[in-house]
Amino acid sequence: MGCLLHDVGKIGISEEIVRKPSSLTVEEYNIIKEHPGKGEQIARPIGFLQNHRFLIRNHHEWYDGTGYPDRLKGEDIPVGAQIIGVADAFDAITSTRPYRFGLDPEVALERIRENRGTQFSPQVVDVFVKIFDEICAVC
Ligand SMILES: [Fe+2]
Repeated sequence: MGCLLHDVGKIGISEEIVRKPSSLTVEEYNIIKEHPGKGEQIARPIGFLQNHRFLIRNHHEWYDGTGYPDRLKGEDIPVGAQIIGVADAFDAITSTRPYRFGLDPEVALERIRENRGTQFSPQVVDVFVKIFDEICAVC
């Protein structure tokens, strides 16, 4: 549920900013960065989301503590949020956007590997790479 709803807070952000086809200004990026907190606020009163709302809130935390909104570090980041962070990055890199084509999965995998231990949990990256290799072995 946390994965499916991780970006639900974007409904609280201006569509003009969310769907902007070009680079965001610093001010617009700061507004976008409010979506995990808004998502957690949306999930807070919904009973069946109580065990998932911190996956929504913390999916943009970085393993080195430089993410947002709480600047959680390492294993203080809920493991589900660590997993969403890697999966979301893979999806973002490989998806076509109004301003660029999606990149190959192998390129996304390399970018994720490059950020192992800084943006992403080393353990989650290792498992992601292992599963990716297993899937590609049968492709
Ligand atoms: Fe997000």
